[in-house]
Amino acid sequence: MNREHWGSRFGFIMAAAGSAIGLGNVWRFPYVAGENGGGAFLLIYLAIIAVFGFSLAMTEIALGRATQRNPVGAFRQLGGRLWTPAGYLGVIAGFVILSFYCVVAGWTLAYIGFMARGLLGSTDPAVLGQSFEAFIGDPWIPLYYAAGFMALVVLVVSSGVGRGIERANKWLMPALFLLLLILLIRAVTLPGAGEGLRFLLMPDFSKVSGATFGAALAQAFFSLSLGMGCLLTYGSYLSRSTRIPTTTATVVGLDLLASLMAGMIVLPVVFSFGFDPSSGPGLTFVTLPAIFASMPGGAIFGVMFFLLLAIAALTSAISILEPAVAYFVDEYGYTRRRTVSICALVCLALAVPSSLSFGHWSGLKILDRSFFDLMDYTATNLMLPLGALLTSLFVGWRWAAGARREIFEGTGIAGIWISVWLLVLRFVAPAGLVWIFLASSGLL
Ligand code: PHE
Repeated sequence: MNREHWGSRFGFIMAAAGSAIGLGNVWRFPYVAGENGGGAFLLIYLAIIAVFGFSLAMTEIALGRATQRNPVGAFRQLGGRLWTPAGYLGVIAGFVILSFYCVVAGWTLAYIGFMARGLLGSTDPAVLGQSFEAFIGDPWIPLYYAAGFMALVVLVVSSGVGRGIERANKWLMPALFLLLLILLIRAVTLPGAGEGLRFLLMPDFSKVSGATFGAALAQAFFSLSLGMGCLLTYGSYLSRSTRIPTTTATVVGLDLLASLMAGMIVLPVVFSFGFDPSSGPGLTFVTLPAIFASMPGGAIFGVMFFLLLAIAALTSAISILEPAVAYFVDEYGYTRRRTVSICALVCLALAVPSSLSFGHWSGLKILDRSFFDLMDYTATNLMLPLGALLTSLFVGWRWAAGARREIFEGTGIAGIWISVWLLVLRFVAPAGLVWIFLASSGLL
């Protein structure tokens, strides 16, 4: 069977950037950066992205392009039965991630409407905090929104790679950057914005510790969608003529740009109105609406902000579903449409306990965590680092010559850089990943 390919290099870059730029950039990055020493964190984050993120992203794309297969098929073809579980891990991680990602994405959809209808008019975070809790604690309404969000994902993914995924990203990603730009201009021209920028950009090395490196590493690979075969699957629709190093560099650069812009929007806004930047997820759904309510024209900027979040979440969710879909389509020959609907229904079914864990089932704790937190933790802190670890070990030690040819042949890149790449895959990335793994499972 002929595999479908991206229509253009631009299409691939938009799709891969769409995967990378998600909720992780807009709500997580600003406060993680702020809490971990601002500019000092940024320097560490930049170094980690440049060395580790970039090498691993190229490697995943190469695995997909060389095999023209889904994660399971790719690992089986190159590594045999022993390595196939590395592919299954990615497919399963996709279901787990999407099951809680669609809950939060549903909230962003709901908040576009609340903002537009002026329902969040209070400037008091306590009041907004209560309405947020009441909303996410409702047994039905958040699930309707999650289902609505999944319907959008299904619509795009079932239309195929070129007509669905590529086309959606080619429109949505430029729109996302336009929204980022408008919001950025608004944010940095607020009185007192300088303090927020200073918080983000001024290095404070006193806040740097071992944990800072762990936080930067975890943020880097979540943000680049590494470790679950997203880039691998997108790479499998890439044609031979595309150069992997420069194309990957563009994607990684766009992801970084989006994070920085989000940081330069959120932190000046928060500082300008004298709020606390380290309030985590509540920052997005409680603090920011309070600020929008007290800003001239704030409702419009509020709608734009939640639209931005929804677009970012949608383009990422599409890429989270695609590896599983590619797996069933490639390996069993199922039709794309049917596969997409069934996979989405499975995710939605798993989303039900996640969503209820903010209300009716909030008392239910598994291993000391709510169902939502358990899914988030299992995927982000265990499955993704493990997936990335297996990928770097596999390519570094089993498929180095093949990957080297796939990535660097004909690019004229100097041998020293190729050695650095191999060194990262063989030693630096595995060591770093084992470290986050131990640290986040509380063993360290
Ligand atoms: N990179 C996405 C974000 O920043 C999340 C994601 C993780 C997407 C893993 C795909 C795979 O929100």
